[in-house]
Amino acid sequence: MRKTILKHFFAVGLFTVVLLIWAAPVVAAGLTESEIQDLVFIREEEKLARDVYDALRLYWGSRVFSNIELSEQTHMDAIKGLLDRYGIPDPAEGRGYGEFANTELQDLYDTLVARGSRSLVEAYRVGILIEETDIRDLQEAMDRSVHVDIKTVYGNLLRGSQNHLKAFSSHLGAQGILIE
Ligand SMILES: [Fe+2]
Repeated sequence: MRKTILKHFFAVGLFTVVLLIWAAPVVAAGLTESEIQDLVFIREEEKLARDVYDALRLYWGSRVFSNIELSEQTHMDAIKGLLDRYGIPDPAEGRGYGEFANTELQDLYDTLVARGSRSLVEAYRVGILIEETDIRDLQEAMDRSVHVDIKTVYGNLLRGSQNHLKAFSSHLGAQGILIE
């Protein structure tokens, strides 16, 4: 009888330890599941912007790409800071330029670099598409987040993206292209 009780306590104890270890990152983070998913996604979405502009900078030598690439690096760093603060693994860890954990972003990177290499006009259009997508995704993630520090970072990135959008739009305009 006593052995059975001990076994029972041992089993419950083991179960509790396993549960605590499993739940630890979420408990430590104190974030909702959607906040975690958004941070992981946006970390790679900012990487996609940086990496596409890096490829297009090498292709066209246009300064707008190198300037905005530097800004995207600061966006990536800002999200990395949040991942570290909340103990969330970094999806970009160990991945070089043009390499993504998220397969949709991998496909998008390949598509956008191919499109942007067709002409300088297409390259600027790719920039506009990336920034418009970032603005939409950041606004949605901001609405879903309940943490002020996360919302503040998203807000800063959003303003950056709005500036990038203006820059690409004016470069496209300078090519004599009307923006729809
Ligand atoms: Fe951007």
